[in-house]
Amino acid sequence: MIDYLFLVYQLIQLAHASFCPVKHIHSSTPTTGFIESPGYPSPYSASLDCTFNITTAASNVIQLSFVSFDLASKNQLSNQCLNSYLLVVVVDRHGRQHVGERLCGNTVPSPINTMQSWMQVQFVSTSANQKHRGFRIQYRILSEAAIQEPLSSLGEPMFNGCGGHSTPGQLSGEILSPGYPNTYPKNSTCNWLIRVEARQRIYIRIVHLHLAPTIAECERASLTIIDGYKHENFGSDKKESSSETSEAKFCGSQLYYSEEGMKSYLSSANRIVVRLVTQEGPATSMIGEERIGFKIVWTAVEGLIGEGDVVEGGQPCKDQFVCHGGQVCVEQGHGICASRSRLCIHSSLVCDGIHNCVEGDFSDEQHCYSREIITSAALGFSLIVLTMLILVCCDQFRKRRRLRVLIRERRATENGKCNNNNNNNSTQRIQPNR
Ligand SMILES: *[C@@H]1O[C@H](CO)[C@@H](O)[C@H](O)[C@H]1NC(C)=O
Ligand SMILES: *[C@@H]1O[C@H](CO)[C@@H](O)[C@H](O)[C@H]1NC(C)=O
Repeated sequence: MIDYLFLVYQLIQLAHASFCPVKHIHSSTPTTGFIESPGYPSPYSASLDCTFNITTAASNVIQLSFVSFDLASKNQLSNQCLNSYLLVVVVDRHGRQHVGERLCGNTVPSPINTMQSWMQVQFVSTSANQKHRGFRIQYRILSEAAIQEPLSSLGEPMFNGCGGHSTPGQLSGEILSPGYPNTYPKNSTCNWLIRVEARQRIYIRIVHLHLAPTIAECERASLTIIDGYKHENFGSDKKESSSETSEAKFCGSQLYYSEEGMKSYLSSANRIVVRLVTQEGPATSMIGEERIGFKIVWTAVEGLIGEGDVVEGGQPCKDQFVCHGGQVCVEQGHGICASRSRLCIHSSLVCDGIHNCVEGDFSDEQHCYSREIITSAALGFSLIVLTMLILVCCDQFRKRRRLRVLIRERRATENGKCNNNNNNNSTQRIQPNR
Protein backbone atom coordinates (compact mmCIF):
# COMPACT_ATOMS: atom_id res chain seq x y z
CA MET A 1 0.00 0.00 0.00
CA ILE A 2 2.76 2.39 1.03
CA ASP A 3 4.80 1.35 -2.00
CA TYR A 4 1.83 2.04 -4.18
CA LEU A 5 1.40 5.50 -2.71
CA PHE A 6 5.06 6.25 -3.38
CA LEU A 7 4.66 5.12 -6.94
CA VAL A 8 1.69 7.43 -7.44
CA TYR A 9 3.65 10.24 -5.81
CA GLN A 10 6.58 9.55 -8.10
CA LEU A 11 4.40 9.53 -11.18
CA ILE A 12 2.89 12.89 -10.24
CA GLN A 13 6.35 14.28 -9.74
CA LEU A 14 7.52 12.90 -13.08
CA ALA A 15 4.60 14.52 -14.83
CA HIS A 16 5.88 17.81 -13.52
CA ALA A 17 9.48 17.08 -14.49
CA SER A 18 11.24 20.10 -15.86
CA PHE A 19 12.32 20.00 -19.43
CA CYS A 20 15.93 18.98 -19.65
CA PRO A 21 16.93 18.56 -23.31
CA VAL A 22 18.79 15.41 -24.34
CA LYS A 23 22.46 16.20 -24.36
CA HIS A 24 24.24 14.58 -27.29
CA ILE A 25 27.90 13.86 -26.91
CA HIS A 26 29.55 12.45 -30.00
CA SER A 27 33.16 12.05 -30.94
CA SER A 28 34.46 9.75 -33.63
CA THR A 29 38.00 9.97 -32.21
CA PRO A 30 39.34 9.17 -28.72
CA THR A 31 38.60 11.93 -26.26
CA THR A 32 37.57 12.59 -22.69
CA GLY A 33 35.10 14.90 -20.97
CA PHE A 34 32.65 15.32 -18.13
CA ILE A 35 28.93 15.13 -17.62
CA GLU A 36 27.31 16.75 -14.61
CA SER A 37 23.94 17.16 -12.96
CA PRO A 38 22.30 20.51 -13.79
CA GLY A 39 23.86 23.28 -11.70
CA TYR A 40 26.62 21.05 -10.29
CA PRO A 41 28.12 21.52 -7.68
CA SER A 42 25.10 23.45 -6.46
CA PRO A 43 22.26 21.20 -5.35
CA TYR A 44 20.09 20.00 -8.21
CA SER A 45 16.46 20.99 -8.35
CA ALA A 46 13.50 18.69 -8.08
CA SER A 47 11.56 17.43 -11.08
CA LEU A 48 14.36 16.74 -13.51
CA ASP A 49 14.60 14.11 -16.19
CA CYS A 50 17.84 14.49 -18.12
CA THR A 51 19.42 12.18 -20.66
CA PHE A 52 23.01 12.21 -21.83
CA ASN A 53 23.42 10.37 -25.10
CA ILE A 54 27.09 9.43 -25.64
CA THR A 55 28.04 7.89 -28.98
CA THR A 56 31.25 7.25 -30.88
CA ALA A 57 32.55 5.34 -33.90
CA ALA A 58 32.18 1.54 -33.86
CA SER A 59 35.95 1.12 -33.51
CA ASN A 60 35.88 2.95 -30.15
CA VAL A 61 34.51 2.16 -26.70
CA ILE A 62 33.14 4.31 -23.87
CA GLN A 63 34.13 4.18 -20.22
CA LEU A 64 32.63 6.08 -17.30
CA SER A 65 34.26 6.90 -13.99
CA PHE A 66 32.42 8.69 -11.23
CA VAL A 67 34.32 11.72 -9.89
CA SER A 68 31.73 12.85 -7.38
CA PHE A 69 28.35 11.43 -6.45
CA ASP A 70 25.77 12.79 -4.02
CA LEU A 71 22.13 11.98 -4.65
CA ALA A 72 19.20 11.47 -2.29
CA SER A 73 19.55 8.18 -0.43
CA LYS A 74 17.39 5.12 -0.93
CA ASN A 75 13.84 5.16 0.28
CA GLN A 76 13.92 3.66 3.76
CA LEU A 77 10.69 1.74 3.39
CA SER A 78 11.22 0.16 0.00
CA ASN A 79 15.04 0.25 -0.06
CA GLN A 80 14.86 1.58 -3.60
CA CYS A 81 16.14 4.67 -5.32
CA LEU A 82 12.92 6.66 -5.69
CA ASN A 83 13.65 10.33 -4.99
CA SER A 84 16.46 10.75 -7.43
CA TYR A 85 18.61 8.31 -9.31
CA LEU A 86 20.97 7.77 -12.17
CA LEU A 87 20.38 5.06 -14.74
CA VAL A 88 23.12 3.90 -17.08
CA VAL A 89 22.04 2.15 -20.26
CA VAL A 90 24.64 0.48 -22.44
CA VAL A 91 23.61 -0.26 -26.01
CA ASP A 92 25.62 -3.09 -27.47
CA ARG A 93 26.70 -3.70 -31.06
CA HIS A 94 23.52 -5.64 -31.76
CA GLY A 95 21.36 -2.75 -30.57
CA ARG A 96 20.35 -4.49 -27.34
CA GLN A 97 19.95 -2.24 -24.31
CA HIS A 98 21.56 -3.26 -21.05
CA VAL A 99 19.94 -1.27 -18.29
CA GLY A 100 21.96 -0.99 -15.10
CA GLU A 101 20.65 -0.68 -11.57
CA ARG A 102 19.36 2.64 -10.33
CA LEU A 103 22.19 4.48 -8.62
CA CYS A 104 21.55 6.83 -5.69
CA GLY A 105 22.90 7.82 -2.26
CA ASN A 106 26.40 9.10 -1.75
CA THR A 107 28.56 6.04 -2.32
CA VAL A 108 30.67 6.70 -5.39
CA PRO A 109 29.83 3.88 -7.85
CA SER A 110 32.56 1.76 -9.49
CA PRO A 111 33.71 2.71 -12.98
CA ILE A 112 31.69 1.34 -15.87
CA ASN A 113 34.10 0.11 -18.53
CA THR A 114 32.11 -1.04 -21.50
CA MET A 115 33.28 -2.50 -24.77
CA GLN A 116 30.48 -0.63 -26.54
CA SER A 117 30.26 2.60 -28.49
CA TRP A 118 26.89 3.83 -27.28
CA MET A 119 25.77 4.74 -23.77
CA GLN A 120 22.89 6.65 -22.29
CA VAL A 121 22.93 8.16 -18.82
CA GLN A 122 19.58 9.19 -17.44
CA PHE A 123 19.21 11.37 -14.36
CA VAL A 124 15.84 11.62 -12.66
CA SER A 125 15.06 13.75 -9.64
CA THR A 126 11.67 14.01 -7.96
CA SER A 127 12.61 14.99 -4.44
CA ALA A 128 11.88 18.47 -3.27
CA ASN A 129 13.44 20.16 -0.22
CA GLN A 130 16.62 18.07 -0.28
CA LYS A 131 20.09 19.45 -0.71
CA HIS A 132 22.34 17.17 -2.72
CA ARG A 133 25.16 18.27 -4.97
CA GLY A 134 24.47 15.80 -7.72
CA PHE A 135 27.13 14.08 -9.79
CA ARG A 136 30.18 14.63 -11.95
CA ILE A 137 31.19 11.78 -14.24
CA GLN A 138 34.21 11.54 -16.49
CA TYR A 139 33.60 9.78 -19.78
CA ARG A 140 36.45 8.46 -21.85
CA ILE A 141 36.24 7.44 -25.47
CA LEU A 142 39.05 5.02 -26.27
CA SER A 143 40.12 3.13 -29.33
CA GLU A 144 39.00 -0.47 -28.97
CA ALA A 145 42.47 -1.65 -30.03
CA ALA A 146 44.02 0.19 -27.09
CA ILE A 147 42.07 -1.76 -24.48
CA GLN A 148 44.36 -4.23 -22.76
CA GLU A 149 43.46 -7.50 -21.11
CA PRO A 150 42.39 -7.37 -17.45
CA LEU A 151 45.28 -7.71 -14.99
CA SER A 152 46.61 -11.15 -14.16
CA SER A 153 47.86 -12.19 -10.74
CA LEU A 154 50.08 -15.16 -10.09
CA GLY A 155 49.87 -16.86 -6.69
CA GLU A 156 53.16 -18.71 -7.06
CA PRO A 157 56.07 -16.68 -8.48
CA MET A 158 58.02 -19.62 -9.91
CA PHE A 159 55.44 -20.03 -12.66
CA ASN A 160 55.38 -17.97 -15.81
CA GLY A 161 53.12 -17.54 -18.80
CA CYS A 162 50.14 -16.27 -16.80
CA GLY A 163 48.18 -14.00 -19.15
CA GLY A 164 49.10 -12.13 -22.30
CA HIS A 165 47.66 -11.03 -25.60
CA SER A 166 47.77 -11.80 -29.28
CA THR A 167 49.81 -9.65 -31.65
CA PRO A 168 48.20 -7.50 -34.39
CA GLY A 169 47.65 -9.50 -37.55
CA GLN A 170 48.03 -12.87 -35.83
CA LEU A 171 45.76 -15.51 -37.38
CA SER A 172 46.08 -18.41 -35.00
CA GLY A 173 47.71 -19.28 -31.72
CA GLU A 174 48.00 -21.60 -28.79
CA ILE A 175 47.40 -20.88 -25.11
CA LEU A 176 48.80 -23.12 -22.40
CA SER A 177 48.07 -22.86 -18.69
CA PRO A 178 51.16 -21.97 -16.61
CA GLY A 179 53.08 -25.12 -15.70
CA TYR A 180 51.39 -27.21 -18.43
CA PRO A 181 51.57 -30.22 -18.67
CA ASN A 182 52.82 -30.93 -15.15
CA THR A 183 50.86 -28.69 -12.79
CA TYR A 184 49.27 -25.24 -12.42
CA PRO A 185 49.70 -22.42 -9.89
CA LYS A 186 47.32 -21.87 -6.99
CA ASN A 187 45.57 -18.58 -6.08
CA SER A 188 46.00 -17.16 -9.57
CA THR A 189 44.00 -15.30 -12.16
CA CYS A 190 45.43 -15.34 -15.66
CA ASN A 191 43.82 -13.31 -18.45
CA TRP A 192 44.71 -13.77 -22.09
CA LEU A 193 43.27 -11.38 -24.66
CA ILE A 194 42.75 -12.56 -28.20
CA ARG A 195 42.03 -9.71 -30.56
CA VAL A 196 41.76 -10.11 -34.31
CA GLU A 197 40.82 -7.77 -37.18
CA ALA A 198 37.43 -6.07 -36.80
CA ARG A 199 35.88 -8.15 -39.62
CA GLN A 200 37.04 -11.44 -38.11
CA ARG A 201 35.70 -13.64 -35.34
CA ILE A 202 37.53 -16.07 -33.09
CA TYR A 203 37.07 -19.81 -32.95
CA ILE A 204 38.45 -21.43 -29.80
CA ARG A 205 39.00 -25.15 -29.47
CA ILE A 206 40.07 -26.81 -26.24
CA VAL A 207 42.67 -29.38 -27.21
CA HIS A 208 43.22 -30.59 -23.69
CA LEU A 209 41.65 -29.87 -20.31
CA HIS A 210 42.44 -31.39 -16.94
CA LEU A 211 41.95 -29.09 -13.96
CA ALA A 212 40.28 -31.23 -11.30
CA PRO A 213 39.10 -34.82 -10.84
CA THR A 214 35.41 -33.84 -10.86
CA ILE A 215 33.36 -31.20 -12.63
CA ALA A 216 32.04 -29.96 -9.27
CA GLU A 217 35.44 -28.55 -8.33
CA CYS A 218 35.04 -25.24 -10.10
CA GLU A 219 36.51 -23.37 -7.14
CA ARG A 220 39.77 -25.24 -7.36
CA ALA A 221 40.32 -24.13 -10.94
CA SER A 222 38.17 -23.06 -13.85
CA LEU A 223 38.65 -21.91 -17.40
CA THR A 224 36.33 -19.22 -18.71
CA ILE A 225 35.96 -17.84 -22.19
CA ILE A 226 34.52 -14.34 -22.07
CA ASP A 227 33.10 -12.85 -25.22
CA GLY A 228 34.74 -9.43 -25.32
CA TYR A 229 31.76 -7.59 -26.69
CA LYS A 230 29.39 -8.33 -23.94
CA HIS A 231 28.74 -5.43 -21.65
CA GLU A 232 31.04 -6.07 -18.72
CA ASN A 233 31.24 -4.14 -15.47
CA PHE A 234 34.84 -4.84 -14.61
CA GLY A 235 35.24 -5.20 -10.89
CA SER A 236 31.81 -3.93 -9.91
CA ASP A 237 28.51 -5.74 -9.88
CA LYS A 238 29.41 -9.44 -10.04
CA LYS A 239 25.79 -10.47 -10.14
CA GLU A 240 25.19 -8.58 -13.33
CA SER A 241 28.27 -10.01 -15.04
CA SER A 242 27.40 -13.60 -14.30
CA SER A 243 23.90 -13.18 -15.67
CA GLU A 244 25.42 -12.64 -19.10
CA THR A 245 25.21 -15.65 -21.36
CA SER A 246 28.12 -14.87 -23.67
CA GLU A 247 30.51 -16.68 -21.42
CA ALA A 248 31.57 -20.32 -21.37
CA LYS A 249 32.99 -21.90 -18.23
CA PHE A 250 34.85 -25.19 -18.04
CA CYS A 251 35.67 -27.13 -14.86
CA GLY A 252 37.01 -30.61 -14.07
CA SER A 253 38.36 -32.30 -17.15
CA GLN A 254 37.59 -32.91 -20.80
CA LEU A 255 35.85 -36.18 -19.89
CA TYR A 256 32.82 -34.07 -18.97
CA TYR A 257 32.76 -32.38 -22.35
CA SER A 258 32.81 -35.43 -24.54
CA GLU A 259 30.11 -34.46 -27.03
CA GLU A 260 31.20 -32.80 -30.20
CA GLY A 261 30.95 -29.04 -30.04
CA MET A 262 31.20 -28.84 -26.25
CA LYS A 263 34.87 -27.98 -26.19
CA SER A 264 34.74 -25.01 -28.49
CA TYR A 265 33.45 -21.48 -28.73
CA LEU A 266 32.86 -19.05 -31.57
CA SER A 267 32.99 -15.40 -30.57
CA SER A 268 30.33 -12.88 -31.53
CA ALA A 269 32.97 -10.33 -32.54
CA ASN A 270 36.72 -9.87 -32.77
CA ARG A 271 37.70 -10.02 -29.12
CA ILE A 272 37.82 -12.71 -26.47
CA VAL A 273 39.32 -13.03 -23.01
CA VAL A 274 40.45 -16.47 -21.85
CA ARG A 275 40.60 -16.60 -18.07
CA LEU A 276 42.07 -19.18 -15.74
CA VAL A 277 41.06 -18.74 -12.09
CA THR A 278 42.56 -21.04 -9.46
CA GLN A 279 42.35 -21.19 -5.69
CA GLU A 280 44.30 -24.37 -5.09
CA GLY A 281 46.80 -26.29 -7.15
CA PRO A 282 45.98 -29.69 -8.67
CA ALA A 283 44.40 -32.25 -6.31
CA THR A 284 46.81 -34.75 -4.73
CA SER A 285 45.03 -37.54 -6.59
CA MET A 286 46.12 -35.90 -9.85
CA ILE A 287 49.86 -35.93 -9.04
CA GLY A 288 51.73 -38.00 -11.56
CA GLU A 289 48.90 -37.81 -14.08
CA GLU A 290 49.65 -36.65 -17.55
CA ARG A 291 48.83 -33.27 -18.99
CA ILE A 292 47.53 -31.22 -16.07
CA GLY A 293 46.12 -27.82 -17.04
CA PHE A 294 44.78 -26.83 -20.43
CA LYS A 295 45.82 -26.29 -24.00
CA ILE A 296 43.78 -24.14 -26.35
CA VAL A 297 44.05 -23.42 -30.05
CA TRP A 298 42.42 -20.28 -31.42
CA THR A 299 41.83 -19.30 -35.01
CA ALA A 300 40.81 -16.06 -36.67
CA VAL A 301 37.66 -16.80 -38.68
CA GLU A 302 36.94 -14.74 -41.77
CA GLY A 303 33.36 -15.84 -42.08
CA LEU A 304 30.87 -18.64 -41.82
CA ILE A 305 29.27 -20.47 -44.68
CA GLY A 306 25.65 -21.26 -43.96
CA GLU A 307 23.31 -23.60 -45.76
CA GLY A 308 23.08 -23.15 -49.52
CA ASP A 309 26.51 -21.51 -49.44
CA VAL A 310 25.07 -18.18 -48.32
CA VAL A 311 27.80 -16.24 -46.64
CA GLU A 312 26.85 -14.80 -43.28
CA GLY A 313 27.45 -11.13 -42.78
CA GLY A 314 28.06 -10.60 -46.48
CA GLN A 315 31.76 -11.40 -46.13
CA PRO A 316 32.98 -13.25 -49.17
CA CYS A 317 35.39 -16.09 -48.49
CA LYS A 318 37.46 -15.20 -51.51
CA ASP A 319 41.05 -16.44 -51.39
CA GLN A 320 40.27 -18.18 -48.12
CA PHE A 321 40.07 -21.82 -47.25
CA VAL A 322 36.54 -23.02 -46.62
CA CYS A 323 36.38 -25.85 -44.11
CA HIS A 324 34.33 -28.76 -45.39
CA GLY A 325 32.10 -28.99 -42.34
CA GLY A 326 30.24 -32.26 -42.79
CA GLN A 327 27.69 -33.81 -40.49
CA VAL A 328 27.78 -34.86 -36.89
CA CYS A 329 25.39 -37.62 -35.86
CA VAL A 330 24.56 -38.35 -32.26
CA GLU A 331 23.69 -42.00 -32.93
CA GLN A 332 25.07 -44.17 -35.66
CA GLY A 333 22.72 -44.96 -38.53
CA HIS A 334 19.32 -43.39 -37.91
CA GLY A 335 20.34 -40.91 -35.24
CA ILE A 336 19.89 -37.19 -35.05
CA CYS A 337 22.31 -35.40 -37.30
CA ALA A 338 23.37 -31.79 -37.54
CA SER A 339 25.73 -30.11 -39.92
CA ARG A 340 28.91 -28.60 -38.60
CA SER A 341 29.68 -24.93 -39.10
CA ARG A 342 31.85 -24.27 -42.11
CA LEU A 343 34.51 -21.75 -41.22
CA CYS A 344 36.43 -19.62 -43.68
CA ILE A 345 40.02 -19.47 -42.55
CA HIS A 346 43.15 -17.90 -43.99
CA SER A 347 44.80 -20.13 -46.57
CA SER A 348 48.13 -19.98 -44.71
CA LEU A 349 46.54 -22.06 -41.95
CA VAL A 350 46.00 -25.01 -44.28
CA CYS A 351 48.47 -27.87 -43.67
CA ASP A 352 50.26 -26.01 -40.87
CA GLY A 353 50.05 -29.04 -38.59
CA ILE A 354 47.27 -27.55 -36.44
CA HIS A 355 43.66 -28.29 -37.14
CA ASN A 356 41.79 -25.00 -37.28
CA CYS A 357 38.32 -26.00 -38.48
CA VAL A 358 35.56 -26.85 -36.00
CA GLU A 359 35.66 -29.91 -33.75
CA GLY A 360 35.46 -33.08 -35.81
CA ASP A 361 36.23 -31.27 -39.09
CA PHE A 362 39.82 -31.97 -40.05
CA SER A 363 39.55 -30.73 -43.62
CA ASP A 364 42.27 -28.07 -43.33
CA GLU A 365 44.84 -30.74 -42.47
CA GLN A 366 43.36 -33.62 -44.42
CA HIS A 367 45.18 -33.76 -47.73
CA CYS A 368 48.49 -32.79 -46.23
CA TYR A 369 49.11 -36.42 -45.38
CA SER A 370 49.14 -37.52 -49.03
CA ARG A 371 51.11 -34.43 -49.89
CA GLU A 372 53.64 -35.50 -47.28
CA ILE A 373 53.79 -38.97 -48.74
CA ILE A 374 54.44 -37.60 -52.23
CA THR A 375 57.13 -35.31 -50.88
CA SER A 376 58.86 -38.04 -48.90
CA ALA A 377 58.56 -40.50 -51.81
CA ALA A 378 60.16 -37.97 -54.16
CA LEU A 379 62.85 -37.31 -51.60
CA GLY A 380 63.51 -41.04 -51.09
CA PHE A 381 63.72 -41.64 -54.83
CA SER A 382 66.23 -38.83 -55.28
CA LEU A 383 68.29 -40.23 -52.43
CA ILE A 384 68.40 -43.66 -54.04
CA VAL A 385 69.42 -42.20 -57.39
CA LEU A 386 72.11 -40.13 -55.70
CA THR A 387 73.48 -43.14 -53.81
CA MET A 388 73.60 -45.17 -57.03
CA LEU A 389 75.43 -42.37 -58.83
CA ILE A 390 77.97 -42.13 -56.02
CA LEU A 391 78.45 -45.92 -56.07
CA VAL A 392 78.95 -45.96 -59.85
CA CYS A 393 81.42 -43.05 -59.64
CA CYS A 394 83.39 -44.73 -56.85
CA ASP A 395 83.49 -47.97 -58.80
CA GLN A 396 84.74 -46.18 -61.91
CA PHE A 397 87.33 -44.37 -59.88
CA ARG A 398 88.52 -47.59 -58.24
CA LYS A 399 88.70 -49.38 -61.63
CA ARG A 400 90.69 -46.57 -63.15
CA ARG A 401 93.09 -46.53 -60.23
CA ARG A 402 93.59 -50.27 -60.45
CA LEU A 403 94.15 -49.97 -64.19
CA ARG A 404 96.82 -47.36 -63.61
CA VAL A 405 98.49 -49.60 -61.04
CA LEU A 406 98.37 -52.49 -63.49
CA ILE A 407 99.85 -50.44 -66.30
CA ARG A 408 102.66 -49.37 -64.00
CA GLU A 409 103.20 -52.97 -62.91
CA ARG A 410 103.18 -54.23 -66.51
CA ARG A 411 105.71 -51.62 -67.50
CA ALA A 412 107.81 -52.73 -64.57
CA THR A 413 107.43 -56.37 -65.73
CA GLU A 414 108.25 -55.48 -69.31
CA ASN A 415 111.36 -53.76 -68.06
CA GLY A 416 112.04 -56.88 -66.02
CA LYS A 417 111.48 -59.07 -69.14
CA CYS A 418 114.40 -57.34 -70.77
CA ASN A 419 116.54 -58.49 -67.90
CA ASN A 420 114.81 -61.77 -67.10
CA ASN A 421 112.75 -63.44 -69.87
CA ASN A 422 110.97 -65.92 -67.57
CA ASN A 423 108.56 -64.10 -65.25
CA ASN A 424 104.95 -65.53 -65.44
CA ASN A 425 103.74 -64.30 -62.07
CA SER A 426 102.84 -60.80 -63.20
CA THR A 427 101.04 -62.00 -66.34
CA GLN A 428 98.98 -64.34 -64.19
CA ARG A 429 98.18 -61.49 -61.87
CA ILE A 430 96.94 -59.34 -64.72
CA GLN A 431 94.60 -61.96 -66.11
CA PRO A 432 91.71 -61.85 -63.55
CA ASN A 433 91.28 -58.17 -64.18
CA ARG A 434 91.55 -58.50 -67.94
C1 LIG B 1 21.18 8.91 -29.11
O1 LIG B 1 21.95 8.94 -30.32
C2 LIG B 1 21.62 7.94 -31.25
C3 LIG B 1 22.59 8.03 -32.39
O2 LIG B 1 22.77 9.32 -32.82
C4 LIG B 1 20.18 8.06 -31.69
O3 LIG B 1 19.85 7.03 -32.58
C5 LIG B 1 19.28 7.98 -30.46
O4 LIG B 1 17.94 8.17 -30.82
C6 LIG B 1 19.70 9.01 -29.44
N1 LIG B 1 18.91 8.84 -28.21
C7 LIG B 1 18.21 9.80 -27.66
C8 LIG B 1 17.51 9.47 -26.40
O5 LIG B 1 18.19 10.91 -28.14
C1 LIG C 1 46.13 -14.83 -3.13
O1 LIG C 1 46.62 -13.74 -3.89
C2 LIG C 1 46.27 -12.46 -3.41
C3 LIG C 1 46.83 -11.43 -4.35
O2 LIG C 1 46.79 -11.84 -5.65
C4 LIG C 1 46.81 -12.27 -2.00
O3 LIG C 1 46.39 -11.02 -1.51
C5 LIG C 1 46.30 -13.39 -1.11
O4 LIG C 1 46.89 -13.26 0.17
C6 LIG C 1 46.62 -14.74 -1.71
N1 LIG C 1 46.02 -15.80 -0.91
C7 LIG C 1 46.67 -16.93 -0.60
C8 LIG C 1 45.90 -17.90 0.23
O5 LIG C 1 47.80 -17.19 -0.94
